[in-house]
Amino acid sequence: MQTFLILSLVTAALCAPTAHEKSIKVPVTRKALLTRANGDIEPAKYLGVLQRTLQKYGKDVQLPNKLMFCGANEPLKDKSQDGLDIFYYGNIVVGVQGPQTFTCDFDTGSADLFVPGPQCDAAAGCTGTTKYDQQGVDEGNTTSVTYGSGMVSGENSFDSITVAGLTAKRQNVISLTNAQGFSTSASSSLMGLAFSTIAKSGQPTYFENLIEQSVVSKNEFAFYLGRAADGTGDASELTQGGRNPGKFTGAVTKVPVKTRVYWRVQLDKVVVNGKSAVLGALGLDPTRGDAAIDTGTSLLVAPAAAPLSIYSRIPGSLPIQLLEGAGGPTVFAFPCSAKPHVALTFAWTNFAVNPQDFNIGRLTPDFGEVVGNNTLSAILNRESYCLVAIAGEDLDPGSYLYVVGDTFLKNWYSVYSYDSAASVSFAKAV
Ligand SMILES: *[C@@H]1O[C@H](CO)[C@@H](O)[C@H](O)[C@H]1NC(C)=O
Ligand SMILES: *[C@@H]1O[C@H](CO)[C@@H](O)[C@H](O)[C@H]1NC(C)=O
Repeated sequence: MQTFLILSLVTAALCAPTAHEKSIKVPVTRKALLTRANGDIEPAKYLGVLQRTLQKYGKDVQLPNKLMFCGANEPLKDKSQDGLDIFYYGNIVVGVQGPQTFTCDFDTGSADLFVPGPQCDAAAGCTGTTKYDQQGVDEGNTTSVTYGSGMVSGENSFDSITVAGLTAKRQNVISLTNAQGFSTSASSSLMGLAFSTIAKSGQPTYFENLIEQSVVSKNEFAFYLGRAADGTGDASELTQGGRNPGKFTGAVTKVPVKTRVYWRVQLDKVVVNGKSAVLGALGLDPTRGDAAIDTGTSLLVAPAAAPLSIYSRIPGSLPIQLLEGAGGPTVFAFPCSAKPHVALTFAWTNFAVNPQDFNIGRLTPDFGEVVGNNTLSAILNRESYCLVAIAGEDLDPGSYLYVVGDTFLKNWYSVYSYDSAASVSFAKAV
């Protein structure tokens, strides 16, 4: 006990901020992109966020959108009072002479840096009024990603990027000419903080450049994502070159990164209401797999077999197939009164998720209409179901890949370390 206390004190001392450790407060915009003013799910918006998350992991599904362009007729909640934690973003500064500031979505699930280019307007999928002035060094080549449902492409430049006073020089910046498929993002730019092994540009990420250019003394960054419902939303922050001891408490559990692509770690199991989710056929545990820790999505995605076993432990849960026939993602609803206790197990330690984070909002009959299922509409007319944060889809053939987004990270402070053995660490968020 005493040893533990001393260790904690030593750890706290080692973690005290140094000259090279800067933290920025990431303002939370609670844009009600997923729900309406009364807490009901906005089907098209939800499906857009899910589609974007799946695309990021190479799953190019076209989700049903039967009412996509006529269903959004209800006013969205005022962003100051909606109580949702959908997007977290801060500012980045691009350039040195005549620096430009963009709102930025910091995304540990991708590895490129995108800003809206001069010609990229709302119709082309870009948000925000500031457009990159292209004062950097033009590389004379482009980066593009094609989806079944759209394309993201832009011109590569080298420029200086500054976040909270820390500058990476000669950073590859993609000046977007087209961003169809990015339109669900509330911020105007996107900074990938995964490993450059998955960069579409093939170039180092901002944080890899900070390390390479010796701007940070510790090769790690960390996220605290607050929860609007608890009044901590505006305390959200990204810390670069260290971790902020004021934002977490108790033990820090280090989980090794298996492959330097995403921040991909072993997920040992999922525990529901105190019990391991049901074992699959042939003794295979469908809840055991890898998890990509992803600040860039609000949702959790699990391999298709896993949610079935997870939700079989939650009475009254209702699977909803988004595409007819086999294949395609499944989302899940449960009675709105359900308060399941779900924990993800990393490094054989259970990390619980607050039940309120699992409930995204109430499903109305128009969800059935949007996905083209009248039976579902009828069910939702009769009974009150709420949508759950875990969707099911097989993202990586041959392995069980989860995407673990903000639903989980609101509960657990996360630290991303690049040391020779890369790791993600979790500690209880304050
Ligand atoms: C674009 O040009 C830069 C500078 O010459 C180079 O480093 C980079 O690899 C090129 N990218 C592609 C996709 O060809
Ligand atoms: C419609 O939804 C219900 C409830 O999720 C499901 O049982 C049924 O199979 C669905 N029908 C089609 C055609 O997908």
